[in-house]
Amino acid sequence: MPPYTSLTLLALGLLSGLASAWDQAPALAGKGAPVSDADRLYTGDQSSNTITVIKPATGEVLGTISLGDSRLSNDLNPQYVKVVNSHGLGFSPDGKLIVSLAVTSNTVTVFRTEDNSVVSQTSVERNAHEAFFEHDNRHVWVGTRGVDRIDIVDGLEGGVVGYVPSYGGPSKVVFSPDGKTAYANHVRSPSLSVIDVAQRRVVANITGLGDVFSSDMMISPDGQRLWTAHKMVGKVSVIDLVKRRVVGVMDTGAETNHPNFAVINGTMHGFVTVASTNQTLMYAQPDSSRMPVLLGAIQASGVEPHGLWPSADNTRLYVVNEHSDTVDFIDLTVSPPKVVKTVNVGQEGQAIIYVSGAVSAASNGTQNLGRQGLFDKPALNKILTEAQPQSSNNNSKAPASCLVTVRPEVGLDMFQVIGRNLAFNTTYTVSATVADRLISLVDFNATAPMGDGCGTAPQVLSFFKFIGVYELDDLVLTSKADA
Ligand SMILES: *[C@@H]1O[C@H](CO)[C@@H](O)[C@H](O)[C@H]1NC(C)=O
Ligand SMILES: *[C@@H]1O[C@H](CO)[C@@H](O)[C@H](O)[C@H]1NC(C)=O
Ligand SMILES: *[C@@H]1O[C@H](CO)[C@@H](O)[C@H](O)[C@H]1NC(C)=O
Ligand SMILES: *[C@@H]1O[C@H](CO)[C@@H](O)[C@H](O)[C@H]1NC(C)=O
Ligand SMILES: *[C@@H]1O[C@H](CO)[C@@H](O)[C@H](O)[C@H]1NC(C)=O
Ligand SMILES: *[C@@H]1O[C@H](CO)[C@@H](O)[C@H](O)[C@H]1NC(C)=O
Ligand SMILES: *[C@@H]1O[C@H](CO)[C@@H](O)[C@H](O)[C@H]1NC(C)=O
Repeated sequence: MPPYTSLTLLALGLLSGLASAWDQAPALAGKGAPVSDADRLYTGDQSSNTITVIKPATGEVLGTISLGDSRLSNDLNPQYVKVVNSHGLGFSPDGKLIVSLAVTSNTVTVFRTEDNSVVSQTSVERNAHEAFFEHDNRHVWVGTRGVDRIDIVDGLEGGVVGYVPSYGGPSKVVFSPDGKTAYANHVRSPSLSVIDVAQRRVVANITGLGDVFSSDMMISPDGQRLWTAHKMVGKVSVIDLVKRRVVGVMDTGAETNHPNFAVINGTMHGFVTVASTNQTLMYAQPDSSRMPVLLGAIQASGVEPHGLWPSADNTRLYVVNEHSDTVDFIDLTVSPPKVVKTVNVGQEGQAIIYVSGAVSAASNGTQNLGRQGLFDKPALNKILTEAQPQSSNNNSKAPASCLVTVRPEVGLDMFQVIGRNLAFNTTYTVSATVADRLISLVDFNATAPMGDGCGTAPQVLSFFKFIGVYELDDLVLTSKADA
């Protein structure tokens, strides 16, 4: 290449302010900066309605940003106008802004990382789930699952400034490393939209994904592959973005949550959290056109690992354990990788992001932080197996069971049930045995198909005083047919 060409490219890069392209995590080997005091980890804590801010260099939990009231203190009040269900998170390539998505109130809130202050807040279409910033560090593309389009928000001024039709309830948007292409997965279509960012329109559909429901996905830092996770059926579709085709579908396990990538010893590795087994699976995928190879599982310190993000230098992986309200720090430089630290965060963490250079040296970055959602008492968890398994659950290898999680909230407790291997369309009850009497606490129906003739009940929620009234060990799971 003649010298003037690379000089011209360099000048153009500098002028546009994008010379470094993409050096946020996940980053290619040697591209991202080492873990430093300027970096931050953020978790989206759905129940406490907060974002927990962590300093990865030291593991200090600096505090939480409150987005509104925690469950279920005031948010059913007809006069309540704040945010409900802090869930997804994204960031601008320059690391100066993060975006938080609230799935229930459909709110997109942009914060300045330097001091955790609100830059803009926008109401968007139904079920704003996950979003990312365009490479202009300004426009936020929002996966709004309730409608067949992506809302584009001006993150600085606020307001919806455009949209891209994308069929099937777009769940999340990610961008190619050069920022020119966006990808959206869906909750009602087994397809990935390929979007030309400048033209703001879908230019191709990659079809044949492993399920119609894909909540989360991630693109590798080389831009060559994208994995979509299918929580309901426990699978991951592996997509080759070079050839724009599905390479294959991996069976990863019930409640498969988020995928992400890290380059280890020069090889692209993929990771995916599997909540039902409390594990993060680790794969090597040197070639984007071939199926990954399973290397092993990293056991979580807690329950239901959900979001995960590596550091930009590929030495650490951070995993938020949704039902333990903790974040595991995993050392990727040892083989096999292992959890080296665990910190307590806000309640029911969903997404986690790692932002390099979030704060300048001049700031300790603790402005506007509080303690909402940070409890000394951990969430309580127990798996119940159906007391007298009924015969209709024939297709299942495992007995019907559920995970019960109890968390203290303001004035009451959150009682959450995730059903597993249930007989489809059957009614189940969790009860407590108190002095030989069976007291029904909550009924639920297994209406979400799991793909093998079974059903699940992914998010059964009820709120009442549990702690100090009942004991976890006294809980039983029964179905209608048991009666
Ligand atoms: C992608 O799929 C949608 C929904 O079927 C369709 O409306 C659209 O035309 C397709 N786009 C391309 C570029 O094939
Ligand atoms: C996940 O953690 C919960 C709570 O510690 C435990 O009951 C359950 O057995 C674990 N699941 C697996 C598959 O190890
Ligand atoms: C990477 O290479 C180093 C040095 O050879 C080795 O100690 C380590 O186990 C390797 N890591 C993985 C995940 O293979
Ligand atoms: C961080 O800075 C703020 C504002 O300067 C100050 O009030 C606060 O005490 C500092 N916190 C820590 C932990 O240093
Ligand atoms: C399950 O198996 C039992 C006994 O073989 C049978 O009577 C019942 O019809 C089966 N149920 C279903 C839903 O297949
Ligand atoms: C499950 O229940 C729904 C709603 O009652 C019904 O429409 C559907 O046909 C049922 N499916 C099966 C397989 O029983
Ligand atoms: C379960 O399904 C039945 C039949 O459709 C319905 O009557 C009942 O209200 C449902 N129960 C719950 C807890 O949704």
